[in-house]
Order: sequence, then C-alpha cells, then structure tokens
Amino acid sequence: MKLVFATNNKHKLQEVRDIIGSGVEILSLADIDCTDDIPETADTLDGNALIKARYIFDKYGLNCFADDTGLEVEALGGAPGVYSARYAGEGHDSEANMNKLLENLTGENNRSAQFRTVIALIIDGEEKLFNGIVKGEITREKRGASGFGYDPIFVPEGYKESFAQMESSKKNSISHRYRATKQLSDYLKELYD
Ligand code: IMP
Repeated sequence: MKLVFATNNKHKLQEVRDIIGSGVEILSLADIDCTDDIPETADTLDGNALIKARYIFDKYGLNCFADDTGLEVEALGGAPGVYSARYAGEGHDSEANMNKLLENLTGENNRSAQFRTVIALIIDGEEKLFNGIVKGEITREKRGASGFGYDPIFVPEGYKESFAQMESSKKNSISHRYRATKQLSDYLKELYD
C-alpha cells in the first residue's frame, strides 16, 4: 500500500512515517516528481487540505492525503486560523506573526486558543477528513526557544510550559498534528489489516 503525502517538508514526513509505521509506504511530492506550486486558496483549513489532496488525486490518480494547520484564538473569532502562516502579511516571519497576535490580545483576558490540523485523505476517489485539536492558552509574552511558528506563545491545556519550552518528543506526543495523524493511522489500519 502506497500513499502520497502532499508535502516536501522533511520533518512532517518523518513524523507521519513514524506514526503510520511500515504497513503503508508514504511518498512525498518529490518522490512522484511533482514540483508544482499547489494552490492554497480556500478560506478554511478543510478547504485547503482538500484542494491539495484533490490536486494530486486528479493529476496523478494516486491515493493521497494533505494537511493544513492553523491557530484558532477564541477572542479573535478563530483568527489567525487558515491565515496563520501569513498573519502579519506575506513575507513576514513567525516573530512578526506572534507580535501581531500578542498585540491584538493586549488587555484581553480570554486567552483560550487551539491548534487544529486537518488531514484530507482520498482513497480511490473517496474523501475523508480527520481533525486533530490541542486546546490551550496564549501567553502574554514569548517563552522558550525550541519548535517553530507560534510555539513560544502557546501553552497546552494541563501544562505549565509553552510548546517552545518542551522537549520536541513531548510536544510531538500531544500535538494537533500527532492527533490528526494518529486518527489517519488508525483508519488505515482498520482498512488494511
Ligand atoms: P501548516 O499548514 O502546517 O503549514 O501550518 C500553517 C502555520 O501554522 C505555520 O506556518 C505556523 O505558523 C503555524 N503552525 C502549524 N503548526 C504549528 C506548531 O506545531 N506550532 C506552532 N505553529 C504552528
């Protein structure tokens, strides 16, 4: 059984291969010689994950999956959400994104937020969505130096440290991405075992 993961991000590939195990061979976009810049034009995470998976299925006829992730902040009506990567504008980095988020939450006591990863899977034309959520709070200042993206300003529920203060193995065992991938993995096991 082979499945294309519509990404070339080496960290994501490794994480997904570790969770899914050896029963399913996970191919990257590079493995199928796809160098296209796949559009991400939807205004929801589900929409973007589906666009990417459908692009690969329609063009190559291969079973595949794609993901999209966002940080959803309650007091901001779910923003930055699907726009998390470019919250401070195109070409801006994580520092700018975090600064904008902290600024927009100045004086706000409701710090509730969640990371959400959506995975869209297409097998023989049949589509399925998986949602991985980790709830938590936005800090008032950046804490910690590991990880990436919004990690320094997100403390997951039940913990005192931010994602950026945690060992990566600990973060990876509770993260939104892990939870969505585990659901995908369980589904594939049921299908193919
Ligand atoms: P992507 O869909 O995986 O590319 O994620 C979109 C954006 O969400 C990234 O550019 C980051 O800003 C943010 N993001 C996704 N996952 C994480 C995470 O685990 N920690 C912090 N930020 C994340």
